[in-house]
Amino acid sequence: MQELGVILMAAGQGTRMRSSLPKVLHPVCGKPLFLHALTKARELRPKRVALVIGYGAERVRQAYSANDVSWVIQEQQLGTGHAVLSAQKAFDHFEGDLLILSGDVPLIRTSTLHAMVEHHRRQRAALTLLTASLDQPKGYGRILRDDRGALTGIVEEKDATDEQRKIREVNAGVYVGSARFVFAALSKVTNHNQQGEYYLPDVVAIGLDQGKIVETVRVGDACEMMGVNTREELAFMEKTLRESINQKWMLAGVTLKDPETTYIDETVSIGKDTVIGPNTQLMGKTVIGERCRIDGSVFLTDALIGDEVHLRFSVVMSSCRVARGAIIGPFAHLRPGTDLSADVHIGNFVETKEAKIGEGTKANHLTYLGDVTIGCDTNIGAGTITCNYDGFHKYRTAIGDRVQVGSDTTLVAPIKLGDDVYVATASTIRHDVPAGALVFNQREEQVREGWTEQKRRKMKGRSK
Ligand code: UD1
Ligand code: CA
Repeated sequence: MQELGVILMAAGQGTRMRSSLPKVLHPVCGKPLFLHALTKARELRPKRVALVIGYGAERVRQAYSANDVSWVIQEQQLGTGHAVLSAQKAFDHFEGDLLILSGDVPLIRTSTLHAMVEHHRRQRAALTLLTASLDQPKGYGRILRDDRGALTGIVEEKDATDEQRKIREVNAGVYVGSARFVFAALSKVTNHNQQGEYYLPDVVAIGLDQGKIVETVRVGDACEMMGVNTREELAFMEKTLRESINQKWMLAGVTLKDPETTYIDETVSIGKDTVIGPNTQLMGKTVIGERCRIDGSVFLTDALIGDEVHLRFSVVMSSCRVARGAIIGPFAHLRPGTDLSADVHIGNFVETKEAKIGEGTKANHLTYLGDVTIGCDTNIGAGTITCNYDGFHKYRTAIGDRVQVGSDTTLVAPIKLGDDVYVATASTIRHDVPAGALVFNQREEQVREGWTEQKRRKMKGRSK
């Protein structure tokens, strides 16, 4: 069995994106462009993988944390042929086949790559390339064939004659070739063309000249080979991939009430019988349990949600954990470090941050809970604020089990309320309260009878 190596070209700036971010780092459904193609190629279990980077090399490298690839720096981007040739040193003493692809083709399927490798080996070819037939071939290299349909070469759009531009069969930019042939042929490629670049597709004509077998494989679904060169194509890619992700989850038993407005990153996972309403964005490493209800207008990033959780309308969460049976929202904001146990209720206009909240505890209205630990079965009244920041440092609040915090309470941290504490409404608490105690602020209630009438009369007199 021949060994397989992979070269992924990702050194270009992507000028047509008009971006300071390297093209291959633009995310598609939450994952940088180049990682899509890399994941697909990896599924063929290659022996070696080389990533050719150049523009924004450091940033590209940071986007891939595993160290199972060789990084090849192409200092100057002199063309795709030059990119592959720069990877030669990563394939010292490598006698197998190379799968060469670009970082900008996210929809390519593993089955297509597999079929190419199989075909290549069966035909004992020196090179096999993927082609597609497009209604709008603009921008792609065109496949040249003789009268009998035999392959003769590839011409780039910019070098093509008007007649050649009418050809609808294009080069998909994915190749399988014997390493020995590819590197030898590349050393013969020149940059005598419109763009002054070393074109990888030129190895096709070189191979044919040498009498080698060069094969083509047609891609089934042309969408697969679409490259991203512009923001418009990026949006198209996002939409296409989004639709296939949504379809995957529906097939897995998740209800999407409006797939058109449901955005699920490729990295997300969802349990079955969960029902998702419109305008939902599930991002990053979000994991949703089974039988959850998401009413709609929800924006989750890296949220771990247990089974049977109900997210009511309009909830924003990032880096949170929510256990089984919790009810959140409407209009709640759960910030990083929020960790809710089972059956917690977080209601409207409640914000949490670094908040560890025990089973069955409720904070249903207009509250800020920051840097706080709360026990079980505690009730946080409307308008409670943890004052965790004095302008210099953040301090923690600790609240025990079965505590009743009255409405309009401010808790000035650092502070601890023991179990079973009662906080009277409208209190400002600055000191620790022992378990089982009632705490309130001393203040006198005053009533002035007839005051309103007097005041109104006085104000009327003035306005004349
Ligand atoms: C290329 C092919 C074209 C094919 C199309 C399919 C060439 C000359 N043309 O055109 O026949 O139809 O892909 O999508 O190959 N890159 C480098 N270093 C470089 C230049 C490019 O790493 O010096 C990388 C880019 O980052 C990109 C990939 O190679 O990921 C392809 O380059 P791009 O400029 O997008 O080629 P196309 O013009 O699309
Ligand atoms: Ca391209």
